[in-house]
Amino acid sequence: MGIDYQIEQKFEIKGGDFGNAGSVSTKIKDKLKEIGIPSSIVRRVAIATYEAEMNIVMYAYHGILNFVLTPQQIKIIVDDKGPGIEDIGLAMQEGYSTATEEMREMGFGAGMGLPNIKKNSDEFEITSQVNKGTKLKIVIYLNKR
Ligand SMILES: Nc1ncnc2c1ncn2[C@@H]1O[C@H](COP(=O)(O)OP(=O)(O)O)[C@@H](O)[C@H]1O
Ligand SMILES: [Mg+2]
Repeated sequence: MGIDYQIEQKFEIKGGDFGNAGSVSTKIKDKLKEIGIPSSIVRRVAIATYEAEMNIVMYAYHGILNFVLTPQQIKIIVDDKGPGIEDIGLAMQEGYSTATEEMREMGFGAGMGLPNIKKNSDEFEITSQVNKGTKLKIVIYLNKR
């Protein structure tokens, strides 16, 4: 058995804060590179965290991204206060987006964020309550199981 450890870090994400958009996922990406996590894993974590972060910036009021690294896996819990998602099945469809015209002009709103989070995760769960908020659980394994 190896030495057991856990690195945990919490990040705040503000709705509407396009100026800092992507900074949380960049911090996580840099940290993982620094500690020598394989680039294929870093890439998947970066995509999943970036898309989750952007969804809070674009659609929610406030969110917390909790990041936990163990020798086995990376777990990311993203919990926001916001309008929630009425139809998760629809939101998960490729190309579905409620992005505003203004967001589309900035290059967002392809409707690929949630599908790409799922694609890059080994475990993915999304739950949402209308008028309350949305929660994502993303797990990416470090070892093939
Ligand atoms: N955290 C969230 N809170 C509220 N609605 C969300 C959230 N994340 C996603 N959605 C809804 O799901 C849709 C699809 O999300 P996504 O696949 O990331 O595409 P996009 O961000 O390009 O719109 C969004 O347009 C939005 O309606
Ligand atoms: Mg998105």
